[in-house]
Amino acid sequence: MLEQIKQTAEFLKKKLPGETKIGIILGTGLGNLVTQITEPVEIPYESIPNFPVSTVEGHSGRLIAGKLGGVNVLAMQGRFHYYEGYNMKEVTFPVRVMKAIGIDTLLVSNASGGVNPDFEIGDLMIITDHINHFPEHPLRGKNHKELGTRFPDMSEAYSKDLIKKAKHIAAKNNIKVVEGVYVGTSGPTFETPAEYVYFRRMGADAVGMSTVPEVIVAVHSGMRCFGISIITDLGVPGKIVEVSHEEVQQIGNSVQPLMTLIMKELVVEVSK
Ligand code: HPA
Repeated sequence: MLEQIKQTAEFLKKKLPGETKIGIILGTGLGNLVTQITEPVEIPYESIPNFPVSTVEGHSGRLIAGKLGGVNVLAMQGRFHYYEGYNMKEVTFPVRVMKAIGIDTLLVSNASGGVNPDFEIGDLMIITDHINHFPEHPLRGKNHKELGTRFPDMSEAYSKDLIKKAKHIAAKNNIKVVEGVYVGTSGPTFETPAEYVYFRRMGADAVGMSTVPEVIVAVHSGMRCFGISIITDLGVPGKIVEVSHEEVQQIGNSVQPLMTLIMKELVVEVSK
C-alpha cells in the first residue's frame, strides 16, 4: 500500500498547479463547488494509477485541482462508498494520497438523514463529531508508522477552530446552520423507523453512509478535518416518509450553493 500511495501521489503532484494544502471530498450530487474552481485541471479517476473507480449514480468520479477563492485545492467529485463494495482501504485510499501530496486540511460534505427532531429538511449541519457504525474499521490490520500512530486520538476529529470559523462565515452570510453528531453506517438501505430511533438514542443527530472512514484516516495521518452535511430527509418518528436517492439529490442540489459559499470562504480563511 505504501508503494501505491507514493506512486499515485507522484502522478498527481505533476498535475497540480502548485503547493496544495487543502483537500475537499464532495458527497453524492454535491459537485456544485467545483464550478467555483478556477484554472481547473480535471483528472478522471480512471486515469489515476491505483485509484478505485466510482460507479454510483450521481457521481462523476474525478479529481479537480485548481483554485478556490484564489487558494490551491484538490477536490474529489464523487467518493468511494463502502456499500458499493469497496473495502475500507479502497474507500480511504484517496485520503492517504492527499496526505502524501502535502494536504493537511480536509473538508468533506455529504447528504444525510436528520434524526434530531429540531432539524428540518434542507438544513446544513456542521459535523461536530461522529460515531463509527461501519462493520469494518479503516485502520484494522498492520499499522504503518509512516502513516500514523497505532492508537489515534479522536478527541477532536473535527477541528474546533474550523467549526468556529465556519459558523462565523455562516452568520456573516445569513446562512442557517445547525450542528451535530454524524453517525456513519454502511447502507445501502435507508434506515427503518426503528433504526432511526436507535441512532438518535445512540447520540446521533444525522445518519449517512460515508465520511467517517475518510475522517478516521485523515485524523490518523495528522490532518485537521471539517465536515458539512445536508439534511435531505428526516428519520424522526411522525415525520418519516419514503425516501429515494433522487429526492436526496434534489434537496442536496437546492442547498448546495450555500454550502459552497461556506466551504469557499473557509478555504480562504484557513489559508490566511
Ligand atoms: N440515511 C442514510 N443515509 C442517507 C440518508 C438517510 O436517511 N439521507 C441521505 N443519506
